[in-house]
Amino acid sequence: MSRFYLTTPIYYVNDVPHIGHAYTTVAADALARWHRLAGDEVFFLTGTDEHGLKVARSALEHSCSPQEWADITSGRFQEAWRLLNISNDDFIRTTESRHHLAVSSFLQRIYDNGHIYVGSYQGLYCVACEAYYSEDELVDGNCPDHGRPPEPMEEENYFFALSRFEKPLLDYYDSHPDAVRPATKRNEAVGFIRQGLRDISITRTSIDWGVPAPWDPSHVIYVWYDALVNYLTAIGFGTDEDRFTGWWPASHHLLGKDILRFHAVWWPAMCMAAGIDPPGQEIVHGWLLVGGEKMSKTRLNQIFPADLAADFGVDPFRYHLLRDNGLGPDGDFSYEGMVERYNADLANNLGNLVSRVATVVEKKCGGVGPAPDPSSALSEVAAACYRDTAEAWDRFAPNEALEATWQLIRATNAALEAAEPWKADPGPGVDAVMGDALEALRIVAVLASPAMPSVSEEVFRRIGLDTFPSDLALPGAVAWGGYPGGLPVLREPPLFPRRATPTPR
Ligand code: ME8
Ligand code: MG
Repeated sequence: MSRFYLTTPIYYVNDVPHIGHAYTTVAADALARWHRLAGDEVFFLTGTDEHGLKVARSALEHSCSPQEWADITSGRFQEAWRLLNISNDDFIRTTESRHHLAVSSFLQRIYDNGHIYVGSYQGLYCVACEAYYSEDELVDGNCPDHGRPPEPMEEENYFFALSRFEKPLLDYYDSHPDAVRPATKRNEAVGFIRQGLRDISITRTSIDWGVPAPWDPSHVIYVWYDALVNYLTAIGFGTDEDRFTGWWPASHHLLGKDILRFHAVWWPAMCMAAGIDPPGQEIVHGWLLVGGEKMSKTRLNQIFPADLAADFGVDPFRYHLLRDNGLGPDGDFSYEGMVERYNADLANNLGNLVSRVATVVEKKCGGVGPAPDPSSALSEVAAACYRDTAEAWDRFAPNEALEATWQLIRATNAALEAAEPWKADPGPGVDAVMGDALEALRIVAVLASPAMPSVSEEVFRRIGLDTFPSDLALPGAVAWGGYPGGLPVLREPPLFPRRATPTPR
């Protein structure tokens, strides 16, 4: 059994969860579920990033203490993930004492290894990014991400000797071509390192909302240096060495391109400085845009997951996020696009197949599902569908995995249309066709379960199975012939009632 340790970024608690956060978290959840189904031992982590100036200011605006504000907002993320059926094994908050312990022991190691020194820093700081920018990185004097001017800051603080890690990082990326995916993002990180790295200030004295530096408690650790360590905290770094060494080599970080530099330059260098291996792999995705712009609190163009889940259902929302654009390029989110995809893939394809099968089985087979034909032509389609679906999940392409799974739905609908069992007399001919359709539906439910866990369970229930897709293991779970026949098939209201296309206002 192989291990698969998957993380999302930990989200800032100055904000409430919007569909951009949901995009990463749902993709991670589907990947985690796929790997569990494939028999891997999975540890799936998400959480919240609660320290730093941005959160402290946001708390002040809401007239509460940083801790109170962090409790409220972290709770909103946890609530959103419960609603979206996210199967995380742990939820980490950077204000937890286990995390303080891990940050202290990790940074103390870097300090003891001689990679931290004291100095003074003067620069332009973007609070929204929690990062300093040099003049030439600004766009018209504004932060390139947030479009607002950074603030001048001067501090005496400790520095991490990032510049020493230029060559080790370049060597690392040379010998680990898959360390960052897709390759375009790896090349971007390598290009950034080649331009030359400057040491970075990693402590603050201007605020106290953070983890104190273990060697000088009058300083707190800079929020990014605290946040990145969460990936270690949750698997026992500094407290349970066996657990840590068992999971760390299997680590995969999923993240948006906005935080590529922190993850692909700073983080591996910090790991090297502390004497541990860099993370196993980073999977970088693009932005979900609304009307061509990145969603953000400052732009007030956020869309909330709960609203879409209420309109379409949780699983159709998950399906849309996963199916509409792959992990890599930017994608535009629109309500119209979501209705179109819902009607095409869910109402007209999967939903239609479920309804048809139930109707014909009721009329022609007395409501009892027949067993499939062992040598059905659909068995080959199903085998190819499994192969392509698995291959796509394994290379972190949920959109292609779902496209591959839907090939079996299309082939099954086409087989029914060719055979027209609804026109035929009851008997072995109709039974064979319907048994095949039920078996295909069973296999589709298994393969779609990482994306739509509840819908998959519902399909199982409607075709008379009393197991859950998530209880099964690949590849046995999709071997042709798993549907035993002789089970009650339920005819119930449409799984995905069609939606009207919204009229432009
Ligand atoms: O950066 N499209 O937290 P954050 C796609 N705390 N993904 C989006 C998105 C969008 N429009 N908006 C947000 C932080 N995301 C730090 C991370 S990790 C050690 C610390 C997702 O709340 C995407 O994954 O700003 C992005 O990288 C992340 O949320 C940023 O979340
Ligand atoms: Mg952000």
